[in-house]
Amino acid sequence: MTRHLPLSPETTRLEALKRLGEAFRSVGIETAQRDARLLTLDAVGIDHPDLIRAPRESIGAEAAEKLNAHAARRVAREPVARILGEWEFWSLPFKLSPDTLVPRPDSETVVAAALIALGARRHENEGVRVLDLGTGSGCLLIALLHEMPGASGIGIDLSPGAVETARSNARLNGVDARAEFRLSDWTAEVEGTFDLVVSNPPYIVDSVLEGLEPEVRVHDPRLALSGGADGLDAYRRIIALLPSVLAPGGVAALEIGSDQADSVTALATEAGFAVDGPYADFGARPRALVLKPKR
Ligand SMILES: C[S@@+](CC[C@H](N)C(=O)[O-])C[C@H]1O[C@@H](n2cnc3c(N)ncnc32)[C@H](O)[C@@H]1O
Repeated sequence: MTRHLPLSPETTRLEALKRLGEAFRSVGIETAQRDARLLTLDAVGIDHPDLIRAPRESIGAEAAEKLNAHAARRVAREPVARILGEWEFWSLPFKLSPDTLVPRPDSETVVAAALIALGARRHENEGVRVLDLGTGSGCLLIALLHEMPGASGIGIDLSPGAVETARSNARLNGVDARAEFRLSDWTAEVEGTFDLVVSNPPYIVDSVLEGLEPEVRVHDPRLALSGGADGLDAYRRIIALLPSVLAPGGVAALEIGSDQADSVTALATEAGFAVDGPYADFGARPRALVLKPKR
């Protein structure tokens, strides 16, 4: 623990925010104050309006114990999302497990690019079929089914724990009647064709993995990160499989690493696809490509 902690039951909400922020900054956490706020709100059991309405209220014994435990985990560089066990994506809640990647805001670019690529079918979406390859928490498929009430789809993953978590997230978000989740090595257990295929495959170059921040290196599953020697292993496999799962007129939206637009575009072009994008994430980095079979 740092010199700013532990907190006592008499600590005010405002003081807790300040001391947690200082504790997190002292160990080099860039999002220190945001993390302090999210963990304080959770431990005290209040929302943001409660906090600004009564900032000088004491946190009490129960919250102090919970917040000290939260803070110790964050100082040890466990991500806030893992401490809370839930994270938001596309303004929807997603439960996490050790087998699922924490959904990143960057990946919302894939959802947006997919909706753009569907054009009018985004709105007249009755019967639209979606396939999500490497579904993790289920965030891409569930966000898309939430946007398109007439659509249905399948999410697959090689991790049994991820499949289970994605299934419970579909229930949590009220799309479970239209979403199916399967254990599958990419498309091996998938039959039929789809109007939209989405994927955020593992794309980190293996030699880079050990240099990543502990939040990612220690806490995100390796299967969700490792892209092989050049980071492109999963793209090679997925692009080769796309013709067998895309319906006539179907499109695929793939997340890419910010330095992979040229290499993935080259793989897709060579395999006979026209490529739209790259579409940029909120940090203005290339983040998604849309692939359309050339007819
Ligand atoms: C980068 S994560 C993406 C998770 C989620 N779609 C998201 O955007 O947060 C990649 C996912 O692909 C899965 N995966 C890795 N290799 C796979 C394979 N051969 N077949 C199916 N899924 C695989 C991992 O388990 C992981 O859940």
